[in-house]
Amino acid sequence: DPSVTILGIETSCDDTGCAVVDGKGNVLGESLFSQNILHLRYGGINPLVARDLHRDNIELAVNQALEKAKINVTAIDAIAVTTKPGLLISLQIGVKYAKYLSKSYNKPLIPIHHMESHALVARMFYDIEFPFLTLLISGGHCLLAVVNDVDNFLLLGNTLDNAPGEVLDKAARRMKLRNIPAYSELAGGRAIEEAAKCSNNSELFAFPMPLVKSRDCNFSFSGIQDALIRHLLSKEKEHSVVGDRIIPEVNDLCAAFQSIIAEHISHRVQRAVIFCTKNQLLKENYKNIVVSGGVACNDFIFKTLQHVGDQLNCNVLRPPPKVCTDNGIMIAWNGIEKIKKKYQFHDVTLNSIEPKAP
Ligand code: KG4
Ligand code: ZN
Repeated sequence: DPSVTILGIETSCDDTGCAVVDGKGNVLGESLFSQNILHLRYGGINPLVARDLHRDNIELAVNQALEKAKINVTAIDAIAVTTKPGLLISLQIGVKYAKYLSKSYNKPLIPIHHMESHALVARMFYDIEFPFLTLLISGGHCLLAVVNDVDNFLLLGNTLDNAPGEVLDKAARRMKLRNIPAYSELAGGRAIEEAAKCSNNSELFAFPMPLVKSRDCNFSFSGIQDALIRHLLSKEKEHSVVGDRIIPEVNDLCAAFQSIIAEHISHRVQRAVIFCTKNQLLKENYKNIVVSGGVACNDFIFKTLQHVGDQLNCNVLRPPPKVCTDNGIMIAWNGIEKIKKKYQFHDVTLNSIEPKAP
């Protein structure tokens, strides 16, 4: 039913995001309270701070989304809420509020898997049929999966250590990019992308390509992270850089670092496509790769992936940048997708959710 409307609630990490989306994929109203700048100041996400901010903002976030949609809760058909994976204490804020609304207004509750919604939301913007390949790259995750259906994900690969966003954020902090006024309020990965644009010698630094010999679809970023620290230490020594000062080659270092991350990710995607082709997991003349998660906002990484896609006869797509990062729209849309599949939700007991660690 295209006239169905869902309220989506997301609190799994550091963004309190809500949205009202209808069955046709129209965003009727949305709100987002991002803790990004605050966590930049703290030098990372502090779970207790994140939880408190979700608690402070949840009611306001829901009301703003409803107000913008000019709709009353009573007119909503169901409430979709992220139940996993993520920080348990943060997830609980969204789940408790969703449960309260569900009970007060007698609305069905739809539990949503955060990572699945990152992938599925692409279907709100493009005509993508199942099955498709998805690459989810964010601050907490890095995975490749075949999406066979709304509720059927075949995991092909995962990160063996860190997530790319996490590594980019740490690198940005270590390179002190926040001290450059133009980048002071940008997410780490975004700051690195901007700095890399100012590089005129991206080959000044060499990074080791991770997992070159492994033929699976897993990822590893710890080796590149260690190499970055070594490059930094040696340059800091060379220029006697101390305190808040920044090495003169910072732009080149960012460019080389971003390049190796893009190359490694592309290499793994290539492996995944080969694996899918061999096992006939995708349709022969219809291969879509959906890239989503915060790191998918990176134009350099995305363009590298599109280039690889061209060579493999695959269409590489991503949701608009503000829908790649955490938001309530993707949660509401996942609710719509589940409703369309005629899920039965009456057996949902949110007291028993067991979110996975990020
Ligand atoms: O999906 P997301 O909002 O939250 C998680 O679930 O982690 O992703 C946040 C991550 C951060 O690590 C941030 O640095 C990264 O996405 N990010 C970027 C860019 N914009 C955000 N990474 C690379 N390039 C960007 N333009
Ligand atoms: Zn996410």
